[in-house]
Amino acid sequence: MIAVTGATGNIGSKLTRILLDKGEKVLCIARHADKLIPFTDRGAGAVAISLAQTDLLAEAFYGAEAVFAMIPPNYAAPDFLAYQDMIGTSLVEAIEQSGVKNVVNLSSLGADLPDKTGPIKGLRAQELRLNRLKGVNVLHLQPAYFMENLLVNADLIKTQNIMGSALRSDLQMHMVATRDIAAVAAQHLQKRDFAGKSVVQLLGRSDLTMDEATAIIGRKIDKPDLRYVQFSYEDTEKALAGIGFSADAVKLFIEMSRAFNEGLIKGIRTKENTTGTAFEEFAQIFRSLAGGR
Ligand SMILES: NC(=O)c1ccc[n+]([C@@H]2O[C@H](COP(=O)([O-])OP(=O)(O)OC[C@H]3O[C@@H](n4cnc5c(N)ncnc54)[C@H](OP(=O)(O)O)[C@@H]3O)[C@@H](O)[C@H]2O)c1
Repeated sequence: MIAVTGATGNIGSKLTRILLDKGEKVLCIARHADKLIPFTDRGAGAVAISLAQTDLLAEAFYGAEAVFAMIPPNYAAPDFLAYQDMIGTSLVEAIEQSGVKNVVNLSSLGADLPDKTGPIKGLRAQELRLNRLKGVNVLHLQPAYFMENLLVNADLIKTQNIMGSALRSDLQMHMVATRDIAAVAAQHLQKRDFAGKSVVQLLGRSDLTMDEATAIIGRKIDKPDLRYVQFSYEDTEKALAGIGFSADAVKLFIEMSRAFNEGLIKGIRTKENTTGTAFEEFAQIFRSLAGGR
């Protein structure tokens, strides 16, 4: 059995579907039981618990050949990094208690850096925590910026014909589709072809700037004049607070945006960490979301 945390999320849901398609026995873990139904309908097991419930989590992990571990972001948390530490510690304790020997951990590009990376600092702490586990094989996946992050622009595109964020318009970014991250995770969870502690970066098909991404989306939705606007850090702070980010999460998010803009968060592209989905292919989704044909 393979246990998947965050099973109803961006990556977890795609990962679960891939594993079920391959005939694997899967145990899905997330808090909301109703969202787990599509997976139980397909034969998966499911446990609706919080990752903070260490004993129940250890029970769920018991007997798993491998675990997909992730720390869900909680942008409303008054102390974002403390929340990550609490969930991360619970995950590690549950892995120890249950005796699981193979873990694929969802981390992030930038987790190699000690500071100035905002929320990624909590994922770095989790890598270090997992690395201290004796006799457990851990593969840390370090994906780049998710292509799916751009979906928050759907309303702006519809109402103002712009896309925007705090990121520079001319910054060459690695961008990866979550389905590619899920596919790589599935492959390693199935094959269990990692030993000791290791890291794999996932950088997407190619690098592109926000201007280039916007132009591609504009072409897909027949809005050739769609523009990208770099929002000031001050405006971004206000916008994030407006959608429920705590003051602490806002501060960390801005810190991460600065780290991207200053070129701190960068991978080293190789054939192995170049994934399949091209941005053009991903951008198709905007046709239905942003009022294209
Ligand atoms: N966005 C990026 O560009 C990027 C890049 C690199 C790395 N990352 C990292 O990727 C991770 C996010 O992955 P994702 O987008 O797949 O996540 P997501 O879509 O936000 O999904 C979160 C999942 O976790 C579950 N969950 C939330 N809180 C929980 C709790 N307390 N206990 C149990 N389950 C809980 C959710 O279901 P319920 O709500 O039902 O519990 C859901 O299944 C984060 O660690 C992030 O830092 C993101």
